[in-house]
Amino acid sequence: MQADLFADESKAGRWPIAPGAVVLHGFALPEENALLADITPLLAAAPFRQLVTPGGYVMSVAMSNCGQLGWVSDLKGYRYAALDPQTNQPWPAMPPIFLQLARRAAAVAGFAGFEPDACLINCYQPGARLSLHQDRNERDFDAPIVSVSLGLPATFLFGGLQRSDRSQRISLQHGDVVVWGGPARLRYHGVLALKPGNHPLLGAQRINLTFRKAG
Ligand code: SIN
Ligand code: FE2
Repeated sequence: MQADLFADESKAGRWPIAPGAVVLHGFALPEENALLADITPLLAAAPFRQLVTPGGYVMSVAMSNCGQLGWVSDLKGYRYAALDPQTNQPWPAMPPIFLQLARRAAAVAGFAGFEPDACLINCYQPGARLSLHQDRNERDFDAPIVSVSLGLPATFLFGGLQRSDRSQRISLQHGDVVVWGGPARLRYHGVLALKPGNHPLLGAQRINLTFRKAG
């Protein structure tokens, strides 16, 4: 009987939230220091900025990117771009440790062979939020989304395929990774307004890395 208790150990920390979607609790914790060390120079080359939506609103979340393609928004629309519009330079390369983490998380979630070419870096200060949306600017929807949470905890909304579907509220902590793909790829999702707090490594902010195969 004792053996049965541990038979599922390899699945410890895997919380399925829908077919094709799972939260991997603490999956990025072993890499926390390496990830943070890599983020600093990325942000020196491509600083956080608050983008404007096509509707003319300034987003409360500040964003940057690394990888071959970066997600951008302005009055002309949402899209992926190879150059940072602020510097006209390519986005900083995706650090190998980012890529490896994203690949491993996708594989554990059942999506082997994930090769992201875009990593959106989101910075939430207290009060910042991301309203319910689908990720649909990518060329195809075969690859999953891998989302890594660092810093202050947040409430992630995970809805259905229709905007009006009820959302689950999922508490995401520093080091948690969410993967959604396959039948869950186009589910609506968002983040509630970040509560004030102080994280020992990141202070009063949450940083989220979202890996996608965009091109
Ligand atoms: C996103 O949907 O792009 C980011 C979600 C998050 O910050 O957890
Ligand atoms: Fe998203």
